[in-house]
Amino acid sequence: MQEHRKRFGDFEVIDFVDTAEIERLRAQIDVAVPLQLHWTWDYGSQMAEIRALYEKGKVNQWNAELDIDWQMPVSKDEWTLTPEASILASICKLMGKDEKTQKAAAFDELCFVLSQLLHGEQAALQLCGQLTNACTHMDEKWYAASQVTDEARHIEVIAKFLQRKMGTIHPVGATLKVLLDRLLEADTVAMKTLGMQTLFEGMAVGIMNLMRQESKNELLSEMLRRVEQDEARHAAFGVLSMRRVVKEASRQQMDEMEDFAFGILEALNANQQLDMLRLLGPSYGIDPENVTKMFLGLPNFADLNSMLYMHTVIPNLLQLGLITERTEEGWRKCGMLLHRKGGVPLPGQGLSLA
Ligand SMILES: [Fe+2]
Ligand SMILES: [Fe+2]
Repeated sequence: MQEHRKRFGDFEVIDFVDTAEIERLRAQIDVAVPLQLHWTWDYGSQMAEIRALYEKGKVNQWNAELDIDWQMPVSKDEWTLTPEASILASICKLMGKDEKTQKAAAFDELCFVLSQLLHGEQAALQLCGQLTNACTHMDEKWYAASQVTDEARHIEVIAKFLQRKMGTIHPVGATLKVLLDRLLEADTVAMKTLGMQTLFEGMAVGIMNLMRQESKNELLSEMLRRVEQDEARHAAFGVLSMRRVVKEASRQQMDEMEDFAFGILEALNANQQLDMLRLLGPSYGIDPENVTKMFLGLPNFADLNSMLYMHTVIPNLLQLGLITERTEEGWRKCGMLLHRKGGVPLPGQGLSLA
């Protein structure tokens, strides 16, 4: 992705502009992934806490078709999220466009964000499927299999929301496609677990929770509430499984995991919504680069930018010892990690700024 990096002031963005190349990336639908399948002949329970999560998952299943009231309306003429939650709507307002246009722009942006979440859910399904093969204990295999069902349901519910209520599923953004492939191609159980349980789940919980706080639409809120409930179970498994991974990891493996996490999230952050702005901005007369440069130049850029990362994923990486002095400055420099006085990162600080 190095060739797509360019500098906007002090910040290095990743920007895909060649539509033929973007199409080529999307067309790569067969991905060779390294996978070591592990048999286990012990069918008893060896991890009581993982078994308990599996049991909890069975009780809390829901049906995306029957348990959601699909009659509830979603309209381009109403605010689906608060106006402030939409970059496009905020810029339209600054440009003096009427409220109808602002609402339509917010609707389009939500459609893009949910589409990307949908592709992320598909990646979660695929990666969690890999974990059912690679895990070593029966409790883990059962739990991972139940998470596969959860992720299938998340794909179902978000796809139906987009198809039935918004009318469009946008194709995967180029930056996201590259990064999802990188997670899926991770070559060890530890790396797959890190990708799935910390990076994926951490980002999913943050995005969905922040989005639900800003939702002004009942159906959207209900969908996000149900998905988040499942994600909470996934996050619990994440903590339990990752604690075990880091406990058994060598110094070198810890460094590799730290670099892997930084590499993925730094690149995601480096896109700075340019994929969305390039796709949707022009129809509202919005110049993508200007918007990005303006955002990067805000005095409170780091406060705003870090909100999503500080919600869950950064605090989790800190707790696991996967952000050390070696990379801390890098996280801070690109506006993903906030400090409180004394230089100690403050988990959750981003939220209080909302
Ligand atoms: Fe999910
Ligand atoms: Fe999940």
